[in-house]
Amino acid sequence: MNRREFARLLAIGGAAPFLTPGTAWPRAADLPPTPASPDEKFWGAVRDQFVMPKELTMLNAANLCPSSGPVLDALYNATRDMDRDPSFDNRVKLGEGRENTRKLLAQFLRVTPEEIVITRNTSESNNLVSNGVDLKAGDEVIITADNHPCNNTAWKQKAKRFGFTVKEIPTPNPHPGAEYYIDAFTRAITPNTKVIGFTHLTSTVGDVFPAKEICRLARERGILTLVDGAQSFGLFDVDLGDIQPDFYSGSAHKWPCGPKENGVLFINKSAHQKIWATIYSAYPGGVGISKTFEAFGQRDEPAMIAFGEALTFQTKIGRAHIEKRSRELTTALIEGLKKIDGITIWTSPDPARRAAVLSFLPGSLDVRKLSAALYKTDHIGCATRGGQDRGGLRFSPHFYNTHADVERTVAAMKKYMATGV
Ligand SMILES: Cc1ncc(COP(=O)(O)O)c(C=O)c1O
Repeated sequence: MNRREFARLLAIGGAAPFLTPGTAWPRAADLPPTPASPDEKFWGAVRDQFVMPKELTMLNAANLCPSSGPVLDALYNATRDMDRDPSFDNRVKLGEGRENTRKLLAQFLRVTPEEIVITRNTSESNNLVSNGVDLKAGDEVIITADNHPCNNTAWKQKAKRFGFTVKEIPTPNPHPGAEYYIDAFTRAITPNTKVIGFTHLTSTVGDVFPAKEICRLARERGILTLVDGAQSFGLFDVDLGDIQPDFYSGSAHKWPCGPKENGVLFINKSAHQKIWATIYSAYPGGVGISKTFEAFGQRDEPAMIAFGEALTFQTKIGRAHIEKRSRELTTALIEGLKKIDGITIWTSPDPARRAAVLSFLPGSLDVRKLSAALYKTDHIGCATRGGQDRGGLRFSPHFYNTHADVERTVAAMKKYMATGV
């Protein structure tokens, strides 16, 4: 889409954008302060911070979120600054910006900057862990069936290379409850277990795992924990000081609404001596583990600065409000879909076992055709889940969605379930 088409779409959508001098895209008014009980008007103002045309309903946060205007501005301004004057002298401030983002990440996750590595994404973070821990024949790693391939395929491939074994805990549907998983992990652990790798919130059907409890039982037995936070970072008001994993991973481009190809790996201080770096090169980070672990060569520091801006944007709105809002929209979607004949919802009916990832089977409708119709005709973007395993559609709403999006989506689903696609 070129600039003119983009402006036309915005105009159709009824937004009132304007070009702020020095920025490259139409901007809405500044974000208003968050009221004690945010209402639909406030969330509408939040929605206006995003450059997506108003008519577009994006329900795909679990895959990729849009960046807000302030994040785009930060990215653009820092990139332009660097390209106007790429001297070392001018780039000093970009390095400072990278360290500032590390501090913001530490605050966001409630840990210390010395425990933060800025990576490219969750895939890289998880692989830095499975590459970096010392494992040999006889050692065991426990994973769950619903982990992403960057967790499970990585462990299985490295098991072939280094000779350790991998045990997989099944993930029954619907979510069997926290106690089931605590019990399953407790029973699977042996004296040879060295690492447990699980997902905080699964991308398949949106099951929430009892992260704190699993990390505690592992810690009590001297077992390292990798918590894949791709779906919780930027959605939950995550407190790693409370959960106490050894490793936690996340991506900027998902729920934090940050730039693409930025991510985080938290490495608990207590695990710093238990992991090797995978890449040794120039330009490490400034403090703690990043001095040895984050020397990945030349980085995109403007993107890292924009990552920090994304965290500031969410913090300004209030992270507890964001989590509550996303959960509330998901519940409204579930309530609407439940009333439509023929839909099977895979995601847990218990709000405590789910968050903002919702998967369902739309009867016998062809999910690819349905998703294409939703996008082309109704301007609703979502994800499809192919295959036999809880296939169908996935809706993942976030704080930029509104109840009007939910109503439009439920009405569209009702239409297609009645008439076909
Ligand atoms: C649970 C989980 N882990 C890891 C990833 C990989 O994320 P990325 O592509 O940002 O590395 C995803 C992506 O959807 C995911 O859902």
